[in-house]
Amino acid sequence: MKLEVVGKIKKAGNIIGEKGLFYFFSKLAEKLFFLLKPSIFYIISPLVLMKVKKASFRSNEETLEFVFNGFWGIIAPLQIKEEISQFVSLIGKREKPRVVLEIGTARGGVLFLLAKSAHENAVVISVDLPSSDNKYPGWRTRLYSAFASGRQKIHLLKADSHQSSTVEEVKKILNNRQIDVLFIDGDHTYGGVKKDFEMYGPLVGSGGIIAFHDIAVHPPEANCGVDKLWNEIKNNFKYLEIINDKNQDWGGIGIIYK
Ligand SMILES: C[S@@+](CC[C@H](N)C(=O)[O-])C[C@H]1O[C@@H](n2cnc3c(N)ncnc32)[C@H](O)[C@@H]1O
Repeated sequence: MKLEVVGKIKKAGNIIGEKGLFYFFSKLAEKLFFLLKPSIFYIISPLVLMKVKKASFRSNEETLEFVFNGFWGIIAPLQIKEEISQFVSLIGKREKPRVVLEIGTARGGVLFLLAKSAHENAVVISVDLPSSDNKYPGWRTRLYSAFASGRQKIHLLKADSHQSSTVEEVKKILNNRQIDVLFIDGDHTYGGVKKDFEMYGPLVGSGGIIAFHDIAVHPPEANCGVDKLWNEIKNNFKYLEIINDKNQDWGGIGIIYK
């Protein structure tokens, strides 16, 4: 333990010697911020909850600004802003969805946007892995539940989408209704996204849409096979691709119309 501390002091001394005091303290502040970030979020979550509950936005731009930047990006979507903005406007031009399912919710930004775009009686379902890896702590459950407005119902399933028990749970919630908007953004491997499509795609009704995030070609180390699946299936449907920049190496939303 003592050796470890001595080692750290030496390392700090070397950094100060090489790069100066200002560099050292700015790096230290950065590290501390990231260390404390989860607790800061925990502390501010009641404020965010209040804002989310009262949320009324005058335009899509205002909603997107809140989602991406509000409260230091606490619910920022893992999306390219222009793309998700186009997707939200597209949903806004259709009849408001009454049943929505998102697979892969992470920080909740897209779930928020989907709830805001949905009918006031909508059922909004999210499936994401349980919190054992700390990705989705309890305070987020409270926050995401508050995304519901009007008589909307939000169901948060902390489960692996590939388990048959999960699809059964989704069917139970659907109670014979069909999904209007399915947003697939969970396991991005070829096998993973294919399973999500095959397991949940049939629950989308005629006239509904299935959206895939990350259809852009990714670098091999990302192990993302969404583009492969997308290219295999898209021609079987009427489809639309939202890709902000043809040279981007992530993102891209592919939509099929059932
Ligand atoms: C890229 S993030 C989703 C981002 C989110 N849709 C957004 O745009 O902000 C992927 C999420 O999928 C979840 N995920 C990965 N594999 C999954 C699985 N088999 N079942 C459910 N969720 C999964 C991860 O826990 C992670 O939160």
